[in-house]
Amino acid sequence: MTTHDPASLSTAQQAAVGSGADFWSTKQVGDVPSLVLTDGPHGVRRQVGATDHLGLAGSEPATCFPPAVGLGQSWDTDLAAKVGTALGLESRALGVDVLLGPGINIKRDPRCGRNFEYYSEDPHLSGTLAASWVRGLQETGVGASLKHFAANNTEYDRMRSSSDIAPRPLREIYLRAFQHVVQKAQPWTVMCSYNRVNGVYASENHWLLTEVLRDEWGFDGVVVSDWGAVSNRVKAVAAGLDLEMPGAGGVTDAQVVAAVEEGELEAAVVARAAARMLALAAKAEAGRAVRVAAFDAEAHHDLARQVAAHCVVLLKNEPVEGRAVLPLEEGRSLAVIGEFAQSPRYQGGGSSHVNPTRVDLPLEEIRALAADSEVTYAAGFTTDGSGDAAALRDEAVRAAAAADTAVVLLGLAAHQESEGFDRDHIELPTEQLRLLAAVVRAQPRTVVVLSHGGVLRLADVDHQAAAVLDGALLGQAGGGALADVLFGRVNPSGRLTETVPVRIEDTPAYLDFPGEHGHVAYGEGLFVGYRWYDARSMEATYPFGHGLSYTSFAYSGLELTAGAQGITASVTVTNTGQRAGREVVQFYVTRPGSAVVRPPQELKGHTVVALAAGTAERVSVLIERQDLAYWDVRADRWIVEGGGYDVRAAASSRDIRATATVEVEGDGLILPLTLDSTLGEVMAAPGAAEILGALMPMPAAAADSDVLGVDMARMMASIPVGRLLSFAAGAVTAADLEKLLGDLNAARATAAGS
Ligand code: BGC
Repeated sequence: MTTHDPASLSTAQQAAVGSGADFWSTKQVGDVPSLVLTDGPHGVRRQVGATDHLGLAGSEPATCFPPAVGLGQSWDTDLAAKVGTALGLESRALGVDVLLGPGINIKRDPRCGRNFEYYSEDPHLSGTLAASWVRGLQETGVGASLKHFAANNTEYDRMRSSSDIAPRPLREIYLRAFQHVVQKAQPWTVMCSYNRVNGVYASENHWLLTEVLRDEWGFDGVVVSDWGAVSNRVKAVAAGLDLEMPGAGGVTDAQVVAAVEEGELEAAVVARAAARMLALAAKAEAGRAVRVAAFDAEAHHDLARQVAAHCVVLLKNEPVEGRAVLPLEEGRSLAVIGEFAQSPRYQGGGSSHVNPTRVDLPLEEIRALAADSEVTYAAGFTTDGSGDAAALRDEAVRAAAAADTAVVLLGLAAHQESEGFDRDHIELPTEQLRLLAAVVRAQPRTVVVLSHGGVLRLADVDHQAAAVLDGALLGQAGGGALADVLFGRVNPSGRLTETVPVRIEDTPAYLDFPGEHGHVAYGEGLFVGYRWYDARSMEATYPFGHGLSYTSFAYSGLELTAGAQGITASVTVTNTGQRAGREVVQFYVTRPGSAVVRPPQELKGHTVVALAAGTAERVSVLIERQDLAYWDVRADRWIVEGGGYDVRAAASSRDIRATATVEVEGDGLILPLTLDSTLGEVMAAPGAAEILGALMPMPAAAADSDVLGVDMARMMASIPVGRLLSFAAGAVTAADLEKLLGDLNAARATAAGS
């Protein structure tokens, strides 16, 4: 690896390496090479030659893998790693040093326009998938850019708005996946987001970029700004930003130099940022040394198809008149309905938009697998509202009625959701629902196939269709993957990464989204996604983690062992059906009787197991000790509470197959007692009651609970002990109480140490 010496650079050169030369590259400064960074995350968007100012013009052809909304549904970390590696090879071939992904913001609200680029409403799932993706990518000598750090959960006003979040949800929900990826996969770069976090721009947030990211988590890579996220480069550098993109034509480099000269910014801070850029350049140079020829577009398309098939979720599959609807049987006629069959929706709009090497059309792929069966097609609707809706519908109904089964492709068109704006609702277009109702009336054997980036309200679809497949966005090979699943060449094993609510009004952030006047209050706190629906015992149309199979699985023999690393959960999974299939085994943890507020259950482990019909396998998952911790706001650190933990082995968040309990030793947490501690807190310390009783005899009324008709001890429990002085009429002084508290603190410390 080439090493560059930051000391050999002048302050001006150090400032210069910290901002872009143009939209996609950094400057060559001395012998420090220019680096190429480009989107990401599910394909390489390499623009060569003249690029438009916003970088939104066309790009070199590259494989469009399933966007995160699709990939997430695989719940498969090995597949995520394979995709990462393939993307790395394409990046290498296209001359890219850093691929701008993965995006791991939590899907707080289904309306967020960019949810298609993120994995889940759950931090464990987002973190584990993204860490594998990063490892797979970086293995090829290409760096990742973990984004958007942090709490960028809405597109509305995204460049100004402040995400106002209390410490526990911030740590336990919004930062947790980032912490996991940083510590487990060491991404070369982290991209700070546009928004403010609790009032301070992410790019200027010293707490976020330095205290948390570097000092606590040990991140030693480069912090790059989101494109145009820097409002004040001097403040940003002081906060921990290393690279401003795309760069402001050198204007901010001069500002950094001037700030150093005027003593406003420490020279050492600029030098440190430059040193990190030099280290990044050295990694990129080492990566470039791994020569890669043009990538194998055919092989990558095949991989994209394989991956996409594992991303499809079978939401529903009810037999009609005793005969299964899915998988489709060869030899029976089929009506394929919906514009998406000819013009598929397979990726999202905005900076992640890839120019695919080719695109599989569902209709052609279905015809290819249908062999000799008759396959008819009707558009049924148009996504731009053109044409005669009634005539299109009638044609579709005729086709459906004449066939054995109808496959209806519904979903959202590109213009209905994208980066840059949020949706106002989560409805399917009315015309599509009207079409579905008419088709189902004519043909009970109707399968709905969904394409969309954000969650949809599916109650109407669920009530009407016999079978429902959720493809979300599947990338360029999605058409083939859907055909594979429809015909049972691939047994579906995808699982939902988000709850599908009965109505938008049920969603956790409904009243606090997208915020106003520059602030978004994260009022639902820890209760994001399934944590909310579970805590409120609310119905969901389809719960988090849900997904069916063409076979069935049984769980048995759940065993737990607790050790220094955490809890190992083992369970035997048996394929009890007639076909080979993959099961996503989920582990949810609860801590009954916790001293702190907690969601009723949280996903803390999962694995995927492939089983031939009739076979069984024992799977084991380590639920890491740190994942059991909650963030204690008094101690300002993670705490693992001691006591019993229930672990549920489950097929979805609402399909629990086995539960067992294990004792976990807690972290010592002794908060010093002060005059501000309540009587209840003080009394809980051993020996406190006697000493306090002798020092301050209770007033007669207080000793007799009946006098005021209340439980006196309970009523007084919340009084800070210091306030008791006003009731003691001078008989006890603050010094007496402080001495008492000091003795109690010492005794507790000794007991904890012994
Ligand atoms: C997006 C980033 C992207 C960057 C470069 C920004 O608008 O938020 O995700 O990587 O542009 O295209």
